[in-house]
Amino acid sequence: MTREDARTIDRRSFIARSGAVLGAATLLAGCDDASERAAATSASGQEAFDPTDWSSVRGEFELSPDLVHLAAFVLASHPRSVRTAIEHYAAGLDEDTNGYLSSNEVALDDQVRSAAAQYMGADASDIALTDSTTMGLAMLYSGLELRDGEEILATTHDFYSTHESIRLRSERNGNSWRKIDLFSDSATASVDEIVTNVERGIRPETRALAITWVHSSTGMKLPVRAIADALQEINGDRDEDEQVLLCVDGVHGFGNQDVSPADLGCDFLVSGCHKWLFGPRGTGLIWGHPSAWERVVPTIPAFAPNSMMAWINGRGDGPAKLSPALDQTPGGFHSFENRWALKEAFEFHDAIGRDRVAARTQELAQMLKEGLSELASVRVVTPVDAELSAGIVCFEVTGAQAPEILTQLRDQNISASVTPYAQLYLRMGPSIVTSETDIDKTLDALSRIV
Ligand SMILES: Cc1ncc(COP(=O)(O)O)c(C=O)c1O
Repeated sequence: MTREDARTIDRRSFIARSGAVLGAATLLAGCDDASERAAATSASGQEAFDPTDWSSVRGEFELSPDLVHLAAFVLASHPRSVRTAIEHYAAGLDEDTNGYLSSNEVALDDQVRSAAAQYMGADASDIALTDSTTMGLAMLYSGLELRDGEEILATTHDFYSTHESIRLRSERNGNSWRKIDLFSDSATASVDEIVTNVERGIRPETRALAITWVHSSTGMKLPVRAIADALQEINGDRDEDEQVLLCVDGVHGFGNQDVSPADLGCDFLVSGCHKWLFGPRGTGLIWGHPSAWERVVPTIPAFAPNSMMAWINGRGDGPAKLSPALDQTPGGFHSFENRWALKEAFEFHDAIGRDRVAARTQELAQMLKEGLSELASVRVVTPVDAELSAGIVCFEVTGAQAPEILTQLRDQNISASVTPYAQLYLRMGPSIVTSETDIDKTLDALSRIV
């Protein structure tokens, strides 16, 4: 039997089961609730995890104690519960890959979506699972329905993943796109300046606004809600299919801010789960408002039961829509052990508290910004205002190149990064794996360098 035959048969049983299992699975994850996990941790001789204690949170990671991890947000290290879950699923797959997959795939995927929905304060059926932010952005911008003459508006502050997804789509379909500046200087920008530039940038032919929640170039956190409110005014005068969709690359806010997609007021929130959320490497998601999902055609076949059956039966009238969660999640086999352990990452954050993570991140970032601003040759480019900043802190040093300083910091056991943009800044991200002592060490190290 070929892989495709087996897959089809598995998918048939999946089709038969899918209605019943959606939202109703109890499964084999390492330990299914936090108290069981805590008990197991104690039994194994490890100190029990106390989510109210930041040093206990840090202790869940195997990040080297010899380094200050201010670039941990670039790609996640996994906390213990995530590592354990990955090992558990990998063992199941290694033992009986086909059997394990057939018995568990649908329900485990469903558990991940439910955990994501719980964490986000959203509906599980609106969440498509991906492997990264980049995959989500590419799917979104490739699949967005645009007619001739309609355009996507992006900003000059977005990352490569947004710009290239839109550019490649435009090359294929001939739709135009533009980039606008939202502010002239991140350090002094205001909500008014940003919103006014959005309003000026929108044209009658604009159908989507692509923005980035927290800029990895400067640390600016956009006032997404205020932008959404401005768009609502503009959309009020438009027919439904001409409304401007607000599409957000959310990766540097997701996992360190205490807001839901509804709070943000966006139409799409695209994120990886392997940065600030410290989820399994190679995981991500797209949340979309149900009416916005209606304007996106899937790019990668989903293997959803409807589309699979339509294909088996020669398509007929085409597949009936199920939900974005099933229709818009790319199909094909995945690194399942990582995908399924994403549930544990959301639960880890839920146990600590989304509000506490946000407050901690902000507090450490503020402490870092204040310390940096006392160093004469340092200019912080991230806004001081908590309304316009999150965990990323960017700065420059007069008379020195960012990569040079980065190396000197690394020599003093401080792990930071440099912005991957034309303008190079030093970039640090205090997070749940750093402490006040780490910020002090960093400022001491810098004061010896600059
Ligand atoms: C703003 C922004 N978006 C997207 C990405 C890419 O994320 P991913 O690796 O999840 O595709 C990055 C950096 O890695 C980024 O800084």
